Amino acid sequence: MPVRHFLTLLDLSASELQSIIDRAIALKAMHKAGEIYEPLKNRVLGMVFEKSSTRTRVSFETAMAHFGGHAIFLSPRDTQLGRGETIEDSARVLSGMLDAVMIRTFEHEKIEQFAQYSSVPVINALTDLYHPCQLLADVQTYVEHRGSIQGKTVAWIGDGNNMCHSYINAARQFDFKLKIACPEGYDPDTVVVNNAREHIEIFRSPQQAAQQADLVVTDVWTSMGQEEEQAKREAAFAGFIVTTEMMSLANDDALFMHCLPAHRGEEVSADVIDGPQSVAWDEAENRLHAQKALLEFLLT
Ligand code: CP
Ligand code: NVA
Repeated sequence: MPVRHFLTLLDLSASELQSIIDRAIALKAMHKAGEIYEPLKNRVLGMVFEKSSTRTRVSFETAMAHFGGHAIFLSPRDTQLGRGETIEDSARVLSGMLDAVMIRTFEHEKIEQFAQYSSVPVINALTDLYHPCQLLADVQTYVEHRGSIQGKTVAWIGDGNNMCHSYINAARQFDFKLKIACPEGYDPDTVVVNNAREHIEIFRSPQQAAQQADLVVTDVWTSMGQEEEQAKREAAFAGFIVTTEMMSLANDDALFMHCLPAHRGEEVSADVIDGPQSVAWDEAENRLHAQKALLEFLLT
């Protein structure tokens, strides 16, 4: 059987994704009950981080520890990856020793190229284009709080970035409606959008997008690698802060999510992210459970 990768949500079928969500919920319950479950004994995950991370690193490393396996943190600063060894050579060598490789990098093409030369599953832990692992946790969190996300309305308020692109793919795969509000010039990628036309709608007004939403989601205005655009972006995104007034336009039982790290007073007000509609902390914890389900799916 050819090796399966998880570079985007489109690499798995809708039913495979659904089974990962169900399994994540079950694995979470098993963990909370203190059950020891070690399906990845003696298996090793390599974790290549070319950008910073708190949640992704800790969740993957903890997942491998719970599963009886091991994880190796690989930084370009102290591996040959940072000294120009080619992606092809690195992929061949690393996949010769490891059972799976998780990569956080800049250009999405880099992870595609790595996957092409890897003999073991490659997992996208965030690129400039996508962040699919986060969506597994987000969907799990919605399901736990409100039941199936199918047919629901999600409002994405902010940048047409990697998280937005993964929300677009999730709208296709989990069959929900996605209302995207972003300032002109910050739209999501045209190709990603054009493949999901029947599931998404793009607005310039965040208030319009928030109306009747079951879930309101935002993310930082300046993603990793865009730091020099900070001032320009702050000006462009003025008015896109998710406040309690904006949340009041959504359905009464609407939830709020943020992949974190958050900037209170920029993309979200403190009373929203720290308020009763926010499930951001469950969402962060679910990175662990959802990725355990993903690792189990790819490796057993
Ligand atoms: N949400 C997320 O991916 O967080 P980290 O950057 O801390 O991994
Ligand atoms: N869009 C953000 C997500 C961080 C988890 C970034 O790429 O920096």
